[in-house]
Amino acid sequence: MGEMHGRRVLVLGGSSGIGLATARLAHELGAVVTITGRNVTRLDAARTLIGGGDAFVGDITRESDVASAFARLGIVDHVFLAGGGSLFGNLVELPQDRLEGLVQERIWAPVYVARCAVRHMTAGSITLMSGGLGSRPVPGGAMKHAVLCATEGLARGLALELAPLRVNAIAPGYTRTPAFESLLGDDPEAQIARMAAGLPLKRIGRPEEVAQAVLALMTNDFINGEVLHADGAGRFVAPALKFTR
Ligand SMILES: NC(=O)c1ccc[n+]([C@@H]2O[C@H](COP(=O)([O-])OP(=O)(O)OC[C@H]3O[C@@H](n4cnc5c(N)ncnc54)[C@H](OP(=O)(O)O)[C@@H]3O)[C@@H](O)[C@H]2O)c1
Repeated sequence: MGEMHGRRVLVLGGSSGIGLATARLAHELGAVVTITGRNVTRLDAARTLIGGGDAFVGDITRESDVASAFARLGIVDHVFLAGGGSLFGNLVELPQDRLEGLVQERIWAPVYVARCAVRHMTAGSITLMSGGLGSRPVPGGAMKHAVLCATEGLARGLALELAPLRVNAIAPGYTRTPAFESLLGDDPEAQIARMAAGLPLKRIGRPEEVAQAVLALMTNDFINGEVLHADGAGRFVAPALKFTR
């Protein structure tokens, strides 16, 4: 099993949720962690929670920001592209710029990471962010399904092109993060209980559980081109969240 102690880990989009949980776990395991995000206040708070490491402002959809992040570390061992948002609604009703934003986050950002990785990484791993909608289309999630399929395709293709660097994707199911809670309306606890009832494990996931799966991708030196589902098999049942208005 690969060692994390002293490894340089870059979490792009690491000031909240799954990215933050992964940065915390990597730090606990002795890695030298750097996180990025767009909001300096959130980054400062996250750095305090992590208990160390570096943090600075950067947008994953800007190639120059991604390049600056890699340059700041010099040599990088593991990268997790954790950042991104949610976009749901019928595709024909969504504004073009928001659809393009999704493509920026899920397709172009991994491309920027790959281009930087060849200059700053000789071994180690890249983990891209997919999600349950990569396995299953739903009404109101057509574009998300499409871009997540592309993200997973990039993980497989780049696993060959960048070898011996390894490239994988993590596909979390419903995970209780600030972004997830913001989708739940006035009574989040009731919504979560309703969702949990329909899931195989009768609960949604915790960011720490997804972080453990990401660390498994970082530390297992023979996993490459994989999509790891951290979803309690939730992808096999009908989604509880309604993605259309
Ligand atoms: N939570 C779930 O149930 C779930 C399930 C499957 C997949 N996902 C995906 O996982 C990703 C993270 O979700 P989360 O629930 O952990 O959300 P979160 O708590 O909102 O965290 C998102 C993180 O990414 C950063 N970020 C967002 N857009 C960015 C950008 N353009 N450039 C740089 N950083 C950016 C955010 O900071 P700033 O906003 O300050 O930049 C924040 O640090 C999302 O793409 C989401 O779709 C989530």
